[in-house]
Amino acid sequence: MIEEKIKRLKEEMNAVILAHNYQRGEVQRIADFRGDSLELARKAKNLDAEYIVFAGVDFMAETAKILNPDKHVLIPSRAATCEMANYLSAERVREFRRKYPDAAVVLYVNSTAEAKAEADITCTSANAIKVVNSLPNDTVLFGPDSNLASYVQEHTEKRIIPLPPEGRCYVHNSFDPDEIPRDGIVMVHPECPKEIRDLGDVVASTGGMVKFVRNSREKRFIVVTERDMVERLKLEFPDREFVPGWQGATCLGMKKITLEGIYRSLRDKKYEVMVPEEIAKRARRAIERMLEVS
Ligand code: 13P
Ligand code: SF4
Repeated sequence: MIEEKIKRLKEEMNAVILAHNYQRGEVQRIADFRGDSLELARKAKNLDAEYIVFAGVDFMAETAKILNPDKHVLIPSRAATCEMANYLSAERVREFRRKYPDAAVVLYVNSTAEAKAEADITCTSANAIKVVNSLPNDTVLFGPDSNLASYVQEHTEKRIIPLPPEGRCYVHNSFDPDEIPRDGIVMVHPECPKEIRDLGDVVASTGGMVKFVRNSREKRFIVVTERDMVERLKLEFPDREFVPGWQGATCLGMKKITLEGIYRSLRDKKYEVMVPEEIAKRARRAIERMLEVS
């Protein structure tokens, strides 16, 4: 069985598998650790394995590499990428900085290493409000997700300027408010547009959703984010019921990771994630500052 082969190789190589909550169910089940982007970044910082296999998209694997320059970080598919992260170039960040010289730059971890190198601090959806409120500046350039920027604006006195105004995730923008079931507790990811967030009983990161269910007595939850989040919740809480906000909310980048790909990644030690030290050094400062704040 492929699961057995992965387990054997993993032990031989002193490797660990980290999986994001949007991974296919079978991938989440063989992972050593599952989590949201903040939990996985923290975990990556405190591992003593020689190899980290990252079952997630490229910016997450890059973050793990930046925090672990001496370890081998492998991503099983080069096509596992986040379109929203790729949308914001480092040059665009510099351009906004020139335009707003007194503003701080907060970048969502869903960004390239090059863009992070231009940021004062990074954030995830779990800590965005806390990160923004920790800064001394009254104005904050926040990107690349303009929906998350508008969510943060609802929870801060500071002026939030989305960088760029049109940045957003196609998965979280695919929900139709009339199609979302309402016969349960509705949990919505903050990457969704305001009209969808307003339908939620709770707005939370994927890790926040896990914590919310753990502390709730309710039995049935509607999960308004990438559809395989339901897999993570079922794994954690087999006695509750989870319904995706809609089945079509699929992150194609996340789905590039398969059990077969993980096996090949371990066997052939590929694809090794590399971040030039000149970029990594500056990006690391922004990521570590976030880890200190939250
Ligand atoms: P989380 O940090 O909530 O897991 O979100 C990551 C992500 O890519 C959402 O689309
Ligand atoms: Fe990027 Fe959206 Fe996929 Fe998250 S769900 S990794 S933001 S494309």
